[in-house]
Amino acid sequence: MSTAGPPGGRTAVVSGGSRGLGRRLVERLLSDGWRVAAFSRSVNAFVETAAESWPDHFFWRSADLLDIASLRDFVFAAERRFGRIDLLVNNAAVLHQELFLTMSVKRIETSVSANLVGPMVLTQECAKAMSRAGGGTIVNVSSINSVRGYRGVAVYAGVKSGIDGFGRSLARELGAFGIRVNSVVPGFFDSELTSQVTDANRTRIKKRTPLGRLATTDEVAEAVMFLASGSSSFVTGQTLVVDGGITC
Ligand SMILES: NC(=O)c1ccc[n+]([C@@H]2O[C@H](COP(=O)([O-])OP(=O)(O)OC[C@H]3O[C@@H](n4cnc5c(N)ncnc54)[C@H](OP(=O)(O)O)[C@@H]3O)[C@@H](O)[C@H]2O)c1
Repeated sequence: MSTAGPPGGRTAVVSGGSRGLGRRLVERLLSDGWRVAAFSRSVNAFVETAAESWPDHFFWRSADLLDIASLRDFVFAAERRFGRIDLLVNNAAVLHQELFLTMSVKRIETSVSANLVGPMVLTQECAKAMSRAGGGTIVNVSSINSVRGYRGVAVYAGVKSGIDGFGRSLARELGAFGIRVNSVVPGFFDSELTSQVTDANRTRIKKRTPLGRLATTDEVAEAVMFLASGSSSFVTGQTLVVDGGITC
Protein backbone atom coordinates (compact mmCIF):
# COMPACT_ATOMS: atom_id res chain seq x y z
CA MET A 1 0.00 0.00 0.00
CA SER A 2 1.35 3.45 -0.86
CA THR A 3 1.77 6.10 1.78
CA ALA A 4 -0.28 9.21 2.37
CA GLY A 5 -0.01 11.97 -0.26
CA PRO A 6 1.92 15.22 -0.01
CA PRO A 7 2.12 16.87 3.44
CA GLY A 8 -0.67 19.38 3.96
CA GLY A 9 -2.73 17.79 1.15
CA ARG A 10 -6.46 17.66 1.76
CA THR A 11 -8.53 14.51 1.46
CA ALA A 12 -12.08 14.33 0.14
CA VAL A 13 -14.49 11.41 0.41
CA VAL A 14 -17.06 11.27 -2.41
CA SER A 15 -19.86 8.72 -2.26
CA GLY A 16 -20.96 7.55 -5.72
CA GLY A 17 -17.83 8.88 -7.39
CA SER A 18 -18.06 6.66 -10.47
CA ARG A 19 -20.52 8.54 -12.69
CA GLY A 20 -22.85 11.54 -12.94
CA LEU A 21 -22.27 14.36 -10.47
CA GLY A 22 -19.95 12.22 -8.31
CA ARG A 23 -17.63 11.55 -11.24
CA ARG A 24 -17.49 15.27 -12.08
CA LEU A 25 -16.67 16.06 -8.45
CA VAL A 26 -13.86 13.49 -8.39
CA GLU A 27 -12.39 15.06 -11.55
CA ARG A 28 -12.69 18.59 -10.14
CA LEU A 29 -11.21 17.70 -6.76
CA LEU A 30 -8.27 15.77 -8.27
CA SER A 31 -7.41 18.61 -10.63
CA ASP A 32 -7.60 21.06 -7.69
CA GLY A 33 -4.96 19.01 -5.82
CA TRP A 34 -7.20 17.05 -3.45
CA ARG A 35 -6.62 13.43 -2.60
CA VAL A 36 -9.90 11.68 -3.27
CA ALA A 37 -11.39 8.53 -1.78
CA ALA A 38 -14.51 7.44 -3.63
CA PHE A 39 -16.82 4.46 -3.59
CA SER A 40 -19.69 3.01 -5.56
CA ARG A 41 -21.07 -0.51 -5.80
CA SER A 42 -19.41 -1.30 -9.10
CA VAL A 43 -16.18 -0.34 -10.81
CA ASN A 44 -16.31 1.24 -14.27
CA ALA A 45 -13.95 2.60 -16.91
CA PHE A 46 -13.79 6.04 -15.28
CA VAL A 47 -12.71 4.56 -11.93
CA GLU A 48 -10.06 2.38 -13.60
CA THR A 49 -8.65 5.32 -15.58
CA ALA A 50 -8.61 7.63 -12.54
CA ALA A 51 -6.79 5.00 -10.48
CA GLU A 52 -4.16 4.64 -13.23
CA SER A 53 -3.80 8.38 -13.84
CA TRP A 54 -3.72 9.47 -10.18
CA PRO A 55 -2.10 6.56 -8.32
CA ASP A 56 -1.05 8.72 -5.32
CA HIS A 57 -4.21 10.80 -5.13
CA PHE A 58 -7.12 8.51 -5.96
CA PHE A 59 -8.48 5.64 -3.93
CA TRP A 60 -11.59 3.66 -4.84
CA ARG A 61 -13.22 0.75 -3.12
CA SER A 62 -16.55 -0.97 -3.63
CA ALA A 63 -19.07 -0.15 -0.91
CA ASP A 64 -22.85 -0.12 -0.70
CA LEU A 65 -25.00 2.43 1.13
CA LEU A 66 -27.18 -0.52 2.15
CA ASP A 67 -24.24 -2.32 3.77
CA ILE A 68 -23.17 -0.43 6.90
CA ALA A 69 -20.08 -2.60 7.45
CA SER A 70 -18.84 -1.80 3.92
CA LEU A 71 -19.17 1.96 4.64
CA ARG A 72 -17.20 1.66 7.88
CA ASP A 73 -14.53 -0.43 6.15
CA PHE A 74 -14.31 2.15 3.36
CA VAL A 75 -13.80 5.11 5.73
CA PHE A 76 -11.24 3.15 7.75
CA ALA A 77 -9.32 2.27 4.55
CA ALA A 78 -9.53 5.86 3.21
CA GLU A 79 -8.19 7.35 6.43
CA ARG A 80 -5.43 4.75 6.58
CA ARG A 81 -4.55 5.44 2.93
CA PHE A 82 -4.43 9.25 3.14
CA GLY A 83 -3.98 9.88 6.87
CA ARG A 84 -6.96 12.23 7.30
CA ILE A 85 -10.40 13.21 5.99
CA ASP A 86 -11.20 16.90 5.40
CA LEU A 87 -14.27 16.79 3.18
CA LEU A 88 -17.24 14.46 2.75
CA VAL A 89 -19.62 14.83 -0.18
CA ASN A 90 -22.68 12.70 0.47
CA ASN A 91 -23.50 12.38 -3.22
CA ALA A 92 -24.66 8.80 -3.90
CA ALA A 93 -28.41 8.20 -3.93
CA VAL A 94 -30.96 5.90 -5.48
CA LEU A 95 -34.16 7.19 -7.08
CA HIS A 96 -37.09 4.81 -7.38
CA GLN A 97 -40.21 6.40 -8.88
CA GLU A 98 -43.54 4.82 -7.99
CA LEU A 99 -46.89 6.04 -6.73
CA PHE A 100 -46.85 5.85 -2.96
CA LEU A 101 -50.11 3.90 -2.51
CA THR A 102 -48.72 0.92 -4.43
CA MET A 103 -45.20 1.04 -3.03
CA SER A 104 -44.18 -1.95 -0.93
CA VAL A 105 -42.86 -1.47 2.59
CA LYS A 106 -39.67 -3.22 1.43
CA ARG A 107 -39.15 -0.51 -1.25
CA ILE A 108 -39.77 2.23 1.31
CA GLU A 109 -37.29 0.68 3.74
CA THR A 110 -34.66 0.27 1.01
CA SER A 111 -34.98 3.88 -0.10
CA VAL A 112 -34.75 5.21 3.46
CA SER A 113 -31.79 2.92 4.22
CA ALA A 114 -29.82 3.82 1.07
CA ASN A 115 -30.62 7.53 0.95
CA LEU A 116 -30.72 8.41 4.64
CA VAL A 117 -29.33 5.75 6.99
CA GLY A 118 -26.28 5.01 4.79
CA PRO A 119 -25.31 8.70 4.40
CA MET A 120 -25.83 9.23 8.15
CA VAL A 121 -23.47 6.38 9.05
CA LEU A 122 -20.95 7.59 6.47
CA THR A 123 -21.20 11.08 7.97
CA GLN A 124 -20.69 9.71 11.48
CA GLU A 125 -17.51 7.86 10.51
CA CYS A 126 -16.11 10.77 8.46
CA ALA A 127 -16.98 13.36 11.13
CA LYS A 128 -15.03 11.33 13.70
CA ALA A 129 -12.03 11.37 11.35
CA MET A 130 -12.50 15.14 10.76
CA SER A 131 -12.62 15.84 14.48
CA ARG A 132 -9.33 13.91 14.83
CA ALA A 133 -7.89 16.10 12.02
CA GLY A 134 -9.07 19.35 13.69
CA GLY A 135 -12.06 20.16 11.46
CA GLY A 136 -13.64 19.59 8.09
CA THR A 137 -16.58 20.12 5.76
CA ILE A 138 -19.61 18.03 4.90
CA VAL A 139 -21.70 18.72 1.79
CA ASN A 140 -24.92 16.76 1.40
CA VAL A 141 -26.40 16.51 -2.08
CA SER A 142 -30.14 16.93 -1.67
CA SER A 143 -32.75 17.61 -4.37
CA ILE A 144 -35.48 20.11 -5.20
CA ASN A 145 -37.83 17.25 -4.31
CA SER A 146 -37.11 18.31 -0.73
CA VAL A 147 -38.71 21.72 -1.28
CA ARG A 148 -41.42 21.05 -3.92
CA GLY A 149 -43.87 18.19 -4.27
CA TYR A 150 -43.78 15.93 -7.34
CA ARG A 151 -45.92 12.84 -8.08
CA GLY A 152 -44.22 9.47 -7.78
CA VAL A 153 -41.30 10.51 -5.60
CA ALA A 154 -42.87 10.91 -2.14
CA VAL A 155 -40.38 8.61 -0.40
CA TYR A 156 -37.36 10.06 -2.23
CA ALA A 157 -38.64 13.56 -1.35
CA GLY A 158 -39.01 12.49 2.28
CA VAL A 159 -35.42 11.27 2.51
CA LYS A 160 -34.04 14.33 0.72
CA SER A 161 -35.94 16.62 3.17
CA GLY A 162 -34.53 14.38 5.90
CA ILE A 163 -30.95 14.89 4.76
CA ASP A 164 -31.45 18.68 4.85
CA GLY A 165 -32.90 18.57 8.38
CA PHE A 166 -30.13 16.22 9.44
CA GLY A 167 -27.53 18.67 8.11
CA ARG A 168 -29.03 21.69 9.86
CA SER A 169 -29.02 20.06 13.30
CA LEU A 170 -25.65 18.43 12.72
CA ALA A 171 -24.17 21.84 11.90
CA ARG A 172 -25.10 22.87 15.46
CA GLU A 173 -23.45 19.78 16.98
CA LEU A 174 -20.30 19.80 14.86
CA GLY A 175 -19.55 23.54 14.75
CA ALA A 176 -17.61 23.16 18.00
CA PHE A 177 -15.28 20.70 16.21
CA GLY A 178 -14.65 23.12 13.32
CA ILE A 179 -16.87 21.06 11.00
CA ARG A 180 -19.31 22.81 8.64
CA VAL A 181 -22.37 21.02 7.24
CA ASN A 182 -24.38 22.28 4.25
CA SER A 183 -26.65 20.97 1.48
CA VAL A 184 -26.64 21.59 -2.24
CA VAL A 185 -30.18 21.31 -3.61
CA PRO A 186 -29.99 20.64 -7.36
CA GLY A 187 -32.74 20.82 -9.92
CA PHE A 188 -32.79 18.31 -12.76
CA PHE A 189 -29.59 17.46 -14.64
CA ASP A 190 -28.92 14.66 -17.12
CA SER A 191 -27.51 11.48 -15.56
CA GLU A 192 -28.34 7.79 -15.22
CA LEU A 193 -30.50 8.70 -12.19
CA THR A 194 -32.85 10.79 -14.36
CA SER A 195 -32.70 8.56 -17.44
CA GLN A 196 -36.30 7.46 -16.76
CA VAL A 197 -37.61 11.03 -17.19
CA THR A 198 -39.67 11.04 -20.39
CA ASP A 199 -39.11 13.58 -23.19
CA ALA A 200 -42.53 15.08 -22.42
CA ASN A 201 -41.57 15.61 -18.77
CA ARG A 202 -38.17 16.99 -19.76
CA THR A 203 -39.92 19.59 -21.96
CA ARG A 204 -42.33 20.39 -19.11
CA ILE A 205 -39.42 20.88 -16.67
CA LYS A 206 -37.64 23.24 -19.09
CA LYS A 207 -40.85 25.26 -19.60
CA ARG A 208 -41.27 25.67 -15.82
CA THR A 209 -37.63 26.67 -15.32
CA PRO A 210 -37.04 30.44 -15.60
CA LEU A 211 -33.63 29.77 -17.19
CA GLY A 212 -35.32 27.44 -19.70
CA ARG A 213 -33.06 24.38 -19.46
CA LEU A 214 -31.74 21.63 -17.18
CA ALA A 215 -28.60 22.18 -15.10
CA THR A 216 -25.25 20.80 -16.22
CA THR A 217 -23.31 18.58 -13.80
CA ASP A 218 -20.62 21.28 -13.84
CA GLU A 219 -23.04 23.90 -12.52
CA VAL A 220 -24.05 21.65 -9.62
CA ALA A 221 -20.42 20.62 -8.99
CA GLU A 222 -19.49 24.31 -8.82
CA ALA A 223 -21.91 24.83 -5.92
CA VAL A 224 -20.49 21.78 -4.10
CA MET A 225 -16.94 23.09 -4.64
CA PHE A 226 -17.98 26.47 -3.21
CA LEU A 227 -19.38 24.89 -0.04
CA ALA A 228 -16.26 22.69 0.20
CA SER A 229 -13.91 25.64 -0.10
CA GLY A 230 -12.63 28.36 2.19
CA SER A 231 -14.78 30.83 0.23
CA SER A 232 -17.72 29.59 2.32
CA SER A 233 -15.78 29.41 5.62
CA PHE A 234 -18.61 31.09 7.65
CA VAL A 235 -21.47 29.20 6.00
CA THR A 236 -22.94 26.25 7.89
CA GLY A 237 -26.35 24.67 8.36
CA GLN A 238 -27.57 26.06 5.03
CA THR A 239 -29.08 24.83 1.77
CA LEU A 240 -27.94 26.20 -1.58
CA VAL A 241 -30.55 25.70 -4.31
CA VAL A 242 -29.13 25.28 -7.86
CA ASP A 243 -32.22 24.83 -10.02
CA GLY A 244 -32.42 27.58 -12.66
CA GLY A 245 -35.27 29.06 -10.60
CA ILE A 246 -37.80 26.21 -10.93
CA THR A 247 -38.66 26.41 -7.21
CA CYS A 248 -38.75 30.21 -6.93
N1 LIG B 1 -29.74 13.86 -11.72
C1 LIG B 1 -30.60 14.76 -11.24
O1 LIG B 1 -31.40 15.38 -11.97
C2 LIG B 1 -30.60 15.10 -9.77
C3 LIG B 1 -31.42 16.13 -9.33
C4 LIG B 1 -31.41 16.47 -7.98
C5 LIG B 1 -30.58 15.80 -7.12
N2 LIG B 1 -29.79 14.79 -7.56
C6 LIG B 1 -28.90 14.14 -6.59
O2 LIG B 1 -27.55 14.25 -7.07
C7 LIG B 1 -26.81 13.12 -6.58
C8 LIG B 1 -26.06 12.46 -7.73
O3 LIG B 1 -27.02 12.02 -8.68
P1 LIG B 1 -26.60 11.55 -10.15
O4 LIG B 1 -27.71 11.97 -11.03
O5 LIG B 1 -25.21 11.94 -10.46
O6 LIG B 1 -26.71 9.93 -9.95
P2 LIG B 1 -26.14 8.74 -10.84
O7 LIG B 1 -25.65 9.20 -12.14
O8 LIG B 1 -27.18 7.67 -10.78
O9 LIG B 1 -24.86 8.25 -9.98
C9 LIG B 1 -25.07 7.70 -8.70
C10 LIG B 1 -23.73 7.25 -8.12
O10 LIG B 1 -23.99 6.67 -6.84
C11 LIG B 1 -23.58 5.29 -6.86
N3 LIG B 1 -24.56 4.53 -6.07
C12 LIG B 1 -25.87 4.34 -6.35
N4 LIG B 1 -26.42 3.56 -5.42
C13 LIG B 1 -25.44 3.24 -4.54
C14 LIG B 1 -25.39 2.44 -3.38
N5 LIG B 1 -26.48 1.77 -2.92
N6 LIG B 1 -24.23 2.34 -2.71
C15 LIG B 1 -23.12 2.97 -3.17
N7 LIG B 1 -23.10 3.75 -4.26
C16 LIG B 1 -24.25 3.88 -4.94
C17 LIG B 1 -23.55 4.89 -8.33
O11 LIG B 1 -22.65 3.81 -8.59
P3 LIG B 1 -23.14 2.26 -8.53
O12 LIG B 1 -24.46 2.17 -9.22
O13 LIG B 1 -22.04 1.48 -9.17
O14 LIG B 1 -23.24 1.94 -7.06
C18 LIG B 1 -23.02 6.19 -8.94
O15 LIG B 1 -21.63 6.30 -8.74
C19 LIG B 1 -27.82 12.21 -5.87
O16 LIG B 1 -27.79 12.49 -4.48
C20 LIG B 1 -29.16 12.66 -6.43
O17 LIG B 1 -30.23 12.40 -5.56
C21 LIG B 1 -29.77 14.42 -8.88
